[in-house]
Amino acid sequence: MTPQERSRATARAGVNIALVKYWGKRDAAANLPAVGSLSMTLAELYTETTVRFDAGLDADHFVLDGVPRDDARVFRLLDGIRALSGETRRAQVSSQNHVPTAAGLASSASGTAALAVAAWGATGRSLKGIERDPDFLALVRRGSGSAPRSLLPGLVELDRETGAVEGIDPLTDWPLRMIVARLGQGPKAVSSREGMARTAATSPYFAAWVASHPADLAAARQAIALRDLQRLGEVMERSTCRMHACMLGADPPLRYWRGRTLTVTDAVLDLRAQGIGAWYTMDAGPHVKVLCHADDAAAVIESLTAFVPPEDLIECRPGPGAHLVE
Ligand code: PMV
Repeated sequence: MTPQERSRATARAGVNIALVKYWGKRDAAANLPAVGSLSMTLAELYTETTVRFDAGLDADHFVLDGVPRDDARVFRLLDGIRALSGETRRAQVSSQNHVPTAAGLASSASGTAALAVAAWGATGRSLKGIERDPDFLALVRRGSGSAPRSLLPGLVELDRETGAVEGIDPLTDWPLRMIVARLGQGPKAVSSREGMARTAATSPYFAAWVASHPADLAAARQAIALRDLQRLGEVMERSTCRMHACMLGADPPLRYWRGRTLTVTDAVLDLRAQGIGAWYTMDAGPHVKVLCHADDAAAVIESLTAFVPPEDLIECRPGPGAHLVE
């Protein structure tokens, strides 16, 4: 198939969970982060998106989980892909979330990465090395600040200064697991974009968060290089607690945790007291994600079923970066 003939592509992108968190922007227009971040891309939670460019369309169309949506972020990203690639046709976009939408499980990251890769693939241009293309990255980042991390597999670092993403470790020989405890449905009350702006503008702890961040990133990198899960888990918990502390200091305060969030984090502490290596992290939502070794995953899940229905406990392996599936 020549590039000109290819006008349809389907991409899959995994959700990524930050071990060292991103919260706050240093450039809102370019959506550049105030801090770097380090995440794990997951295999079991993902978005799959098909883009078809069609000369017969006079507008872009977007359908999410079977429901037509008027989503400015999607249409802006398509405009960006057209501007970069020279594609002129409008697109039909169909997206399926295998993850609860807008509930702090980072579906915006997987959704943005899947859309960008599918749209680029549908233009017929090569995806090789696309995650290093600054213009492509800027488009993905404008869709969602954490989305560039879903372009790469395993552990991924996003650089504060350049916005570049780098694969730190594909985790092919370190079987880590992220157990996702889904605690509630529905969209979050305050979007991360709005929450970040409020925190930066009003929290007296925001500057301390930004200042403390490089040391957490360095400690995480070192723990990964040494394959030291305990140290990595400790940095992960510290980073999420520091992020939520600076949100709690906002005016009005931002609290994404619910009572069940604390119940599950207590259960994680109890597991550790029993000698099982498990560490928690939370994002802009009530859910808890628990990092552990594959050998301990069954024990972690079993103990959490006292508080969370089994269908809401999802064992996730490290996953691939965003890629074409058709
Ligand atoms: O990409 P956004 O704008 O949805 O921000 C994500 C922020 C957190 O999930 C809370 C932390 C992170 O680094 O993923």
